[in-house]
Amino acid sequence: MATRTRKKERVAPERLMELSFAYAPPLIISAAASNKVFDSLANRAKTVGEVAKETGASERGLRAIMNALVGLDLLKKDRNKKYWLTPESAAFLVSNKPGTQAGFFGTILPQLAAKWIQLGEIVRTGRPVRAVNQETEGTEFFSQLVENIIPMSYPAGQALAEHLKVSRAKNEVRVLDLAAGSGIWGIALAQRSPHVHVTAVDWAGMIPTTKRITQKFGVAERFKYVEGDLLEADFGTGYDIAILGHILHSEGEERSRQLLEKTFRALKPGGTIAIGEQLVNDQRTGPATGLMFAVQMLVNTDKGDTFSVNEIKSWLEDAGFKKVRKVTAPGPSPLVLATKP
Ligand SMILES: C[S@@+](CC[C@H](N)C(=O)[O-])C[C@H]1O[C@@H](n2cnc3c(N)ncnc32)[C@H](O)[C@@H]1O
Repeated sequence: MATRTRKKERVAPERLMELSFAYAPPLIISAAASNKVFDSLANRAKTVGEVAKETGASERGLRAIMNALVGLDLLKKDRNKKYWLTPESAAFLVSNKPGTQAGFFGTILPQLAAKWIQLGEIVRTGRPVRAVNQETEGTEFFSQLVENIIPMSYPAGQALAEHLKVSRAKNEVRVLDLAAGSGIWGIALAQRSPHVHVTAVDWAGMIPTTKRITQKFGVAERFKYVEGDLLEADFGTGYDIAILGHILHSEGEERSRQLLEKTFRALKPGGTIAIGEQLVNDQRTGPATGLMFAVQMLVNTDKGDTFSVNEIKSWLEDAGFKKVRKVTAPGPSPLVLATKP
C-alpha cells in the first residue's frame, strides 16, 4: 500500500492578519504628506515637538505617525528622538522634489480611499458610486490628479521621445496628445525638438490646467488645444505621432476600440500610436497592482478595466494598425506602440 510521504503544508492566519492592516501604510503616508512632515524634515533632523511647532499639527498625532513611518522605513529616529528622512522619502515625499509623490499621497489618495469604503456595495451593484469617466465628475477629479501623476508620465514620455528619435527631426513633427491632462507626454516630446507641434485634446474643464502646465514648461506656443469628449472632438488629421496616456483603462473596451479607430484616421500613413497603460497578463493572474487597478476602475468608472498587451494588440489590429510592439519605459508597464501602414 502506498504511503503518503508529503507533509501537509501548514496553513497559517498571519498573512491575512497582516493584510487586514494593509490600508494603514498609504493612509499614514498621506497624513504625513498633508501635514508637511516630510517637508519639515527636508533640511535637518527634528523632534516631534519641533515638527509640531513648524506644521501646527498635534504632538500626539505626529508621534504616532512618525513612529509608524520609522517602522515602514520611511523615517529614521536616533537616541535623542530626532527623526530624519531616508533616501527614499527624501527623493519622493518632499513636495518640491522633481519626482515627488507628496501631492498624490496628500491630496488624491484620501479621495480614492474614501470611495473604496463602499466596495462591497459597488461589487453588489456593479456600478461606481460616482463615475469619473463622466465630464462633470471627471473634470473636477482629474484637474487635481493630472499634475500629481506627472512623476509617473513624464519619464515615460521622455523614453518615448528617445525611442522615436524625436531630437533628430529635420521637419515638423505633428503630435496628437489625447486625454492630455497635464499635457506632459506632448511636453516631453516638445522639449526634445523645436520641430514638435502638439495638439492636446481633453474635456473643456481640463484645458485651462493643460495650458497652465505647458506654459510652466515653456512650450505653450507650440501647443494647440482641442476641447471635448474624445469620441466627439475633432482631432484633425496628418499626425506623425498619437499618444494615449493612461486613458484606455477608464474608457473600457467598447469606447477604447472606437478611440483607436478614430486615432488611426487622424494619423498619417507611417504614423505611430503610443499607449501608456497599467497592463495585466492574458490570464489576469498578475501583476497584482494591475489586478487591483482593475478594482480601482470598478470603483471609479462605468466600464473601465485593465487590459493585457494582447487584448490591446487585437483592438489595434482591428483598427488597421500593424507592427504592434512593446517598448520598455519607466512606469507601471511598458508602452504599447503600433504603426499605421
Ligand atoms: C489619468 S489622466 C491622464 C493624463 C495624461 N495623459 C497622463 O498620462 O498623465 C486622464 C485624462 O483623460 C481625460 N479624460 C478622461 N475621459 C475623457 C473623455 N471621455 N474625453 C476627454 N477627456 C477625457 C481626463 O480629463 C484626464 O485629463
